[in-house]
Amino acid sequence: MTQSEPVSVEGLTLEEKASLTSGSSTWRTTAVRDVVPAVTVADGPHGVRRQVKGSGGALGLTDSVPATCFPPAVALGSSWDAALARRVGAALAREASALGVDVVLGPGINIKRSPLCGRNFEYFSEDPHVAGVLGAALVAGIQSRGIGACVKHFAVNNQETDRMRISADVDERTLREIYLAAFEHIVREAAPHAVMSSYNKINGVSASENHWLLTRVLRDEWGFDGLVVSDWGAVDDRVAALAAGLDLEMPPTRTDQEIVDAVRAGRLDEAAVTRSAARVAELARRAAGAERFADWDAGAHHDLAREAARGSAVLLKNEHGVLPLSPSARVAVLGEPARTPRYQGFGSSHVVPTRLDSAWDALKDAGPGFGFAAGYRLDGAVDEPLEREAVELAAGADVAVLFLGLPGEAESEGFDRTSIDLPGTQVALLRAVARVCPRVVVVLANGGVVSVAEWESDADAVLEAWLPGQAGGSAIADLLLGVCSPSGRLTETIPKRLADVPSHLHFPGGDGHVAYGEGRYVGYRYYDTLDVDVAYPFGHGLTYSRFEYSDLAVTETGTNEWAVECTVTNAGERAAAEVVQLYAAFDEEHPTRPRHELRGFAKVELEPGAGTRVAFTLTGRDIAWWSVSRGAWRIDAGPFAVEVGASSRDIRLRAGLTAAGDGFADALSRMSTLGEWLDHPVGGPALRERTGTRLADLPPALSALVRGIPLAKFGAFGIGLTPDVVDELVAAVSG
Ligand code: BGC
Repeated sequence: MTQSEPVSVEGLTLEEKASLTSGSSTWRTTAVRDVVPAVTVADGPHGVRRQVKGSGGALGLTDSVPATCFPPAVALGSSWDAALARRVGAALAREASALGVDVVLGPGINIKRSPLCGRNFEYFSEDPHVAGVLGAALVAGIQSRGIGACVKHFAVNNQETDRMRISADVDERTLREIYLAAFEHIVREAAPHAVMSSYNKINGVSASENHWLLTRVLRDEWGFDGLVVSDWGAVDDRVAALAAGLDLEMPPTRTDQEIVDAVRAGRLDEAAVTRSAARVAELARRAAGAERFADWDAGAHHDLAREAARGSAVLLKNEHGVLPLSPSARVAVLGEPARTPRYQGFGSSHVVPTRLDSAWDALKDAGPGFGFAAGYRLDGAVDEPLEREAVELAAGADVAVLFLGLPGEAESEGFDRTSIDLPGTQVALLRAVARVCPRVVVVLANGGVVSVAEWESDADAVLEAWLPGQAGGSAIADLLLGVCSPSGRLTETIPKRLADVPSHLHFPGGDGHVAYGEGRYVGYRYYDTLDVDVAYPFGHGLTYSRFEYSDLAVTETGTNEWAVECTVTNAGERAAAEVVQLYAAFDEEHPTRPRHELRGFAKVELEPGAGTRVAFTLTGRDIAWWSVSRGAWRIDAGPFAVEVGASSRDIRLRAGLTAAGDGFADALSRMSTLGEWLDHPVGGPALRERTGTRLADLPPALSALVRGIPLAKFGAFGIGLTPDVVDELVAAVSG
């Protein structure tokens, strides 16, 4: 089969077509004669997990062939660097190809609705724009070599608790604006070869059997032309799944005969089987066109992983210029993770790395005064001699660099956390160290956000390194020593307390349902709208330099379309990168939507004193909202603002704009309110003509009272708007 041949499954028997719609083994699709070859898939997305032949079954999570462990999405996302994500994607594709893998099962782009979600380390952000742009870049990188990407988990899989059964109950506007938006962006921009349906239900209907989701939205509206594969074991009813638009069940449950029987019994249209079989064949055709590599340069990929980890760490705080460290200082490097790094999360994304850097290895020769003590045990058990040794080392040092973080068992695929606190033994060690050492730097390793409010006053600097992949240790050393400046930014707000998180009262639900009661107010959309105090806001991150913003220019380039530009200047003494963020902002007085929403970002690297123009495009879709009644995006006419800044709470430039709107006016009916009639371009004059000034020019309080009343209800008030008159008016405006 070559790339140019059209895929046809018309010559196959019903049995053969049915066999294509489930795998032949855990990681292989089914081949049919010499017509359709099998496709090999493997987990990702931050490294290729190619399982050793014959070992461990689907659950042999730790025995895969060594591959580069790049920073997981929590870190790569914090880079806000689409070009970097694309390069990582291309490297992943090369390794996939060398390992005989045709499709990488990633990226995972679900929204971080709660910091408790056990799989947050695999996801990019609380914001769909960040998840969409970085996910699309990763997909584009993977597919630049013909290897397929598989975007997952579609959709609304935002928790691990009861993930295989729970119904995520979400209103449609929230679905469209928050939970589906990143998928839509990636499907439209990067055309992934595959999408993986999630385990959960959405409003009571299993994602894997959800015709609205898999066919109407994904294919008919967004134009997806790839394959829908189930999450592993997600399908309960194969016939229903196939009819809904799910093409491939993985792993196989040997129920192909059920498909054949359903067609023969008239319960399933054969066309659905043919369609899905053709999509599997198309996936195989695309795989046959992929570039083939025998190997990869492990050193070069390790260097890329190091570059990515450098670009991902977020400097939350840096007082008294404690960072970067001076090589001549006496530095106590403390904490077992400095020597035994925690660099990725556990579950299906777990990769066996090709090598592993530790921060202590990379720091020990940095200066004559650098020393190490483990300080605590990774299993959490109290170990007083270890603590004493660390405090003694700190007492003789100018600076203590203390590595803290979540133990591996605290977060994983398959379960959620119940707390966002660091282990108590670690906080106690920090306090003891802060008492004896003049300066303390904390380096954090965690996949889900941890609270800092309780202890951060004991630290002069905090570097959030996330789970940074196999080269994280040397990357952290580079940042601590100032070989390069930190440039990561938060893609998720760090709340003051778990109880402040908008989903807190609803998460993780129970009795088979989780209510998305906070609606669209996820993350900063909630904190910023209601001015809730946070520890560190969305978009925040410091560096070793500082940036100035100036000369905002906004030009209208079309109807509901603008070009936005500003100048960003490195006003400090070191080369560094800034992440310039663009928000669309709405009415603060009467919020009917989040106060502002991220609509663009750009990472710019600048030498000291250098400046550059940063340009964005703002489109109608960027200010649109999803109308459930119309089943479409709506753009309101009227004022809004564009904001440019360094975080959601550090807006530097702002300009007021006016949108022309989409010109759409809801059709008037007898149940439209007086206000809707009066504001309508045709209905208003018609009503005024009929009723004179009686209803249109009332005193303010009375007007406010009656404007919300449907026209049909005025019949009861004896003011002449009888049912006949209302019907006449409706007829007059419907013509
Ligand atoms: C996970 C997927 C993964 C699949 C195959 C599932 O349990 O949810 O993300 O790709 O297993 O390992």
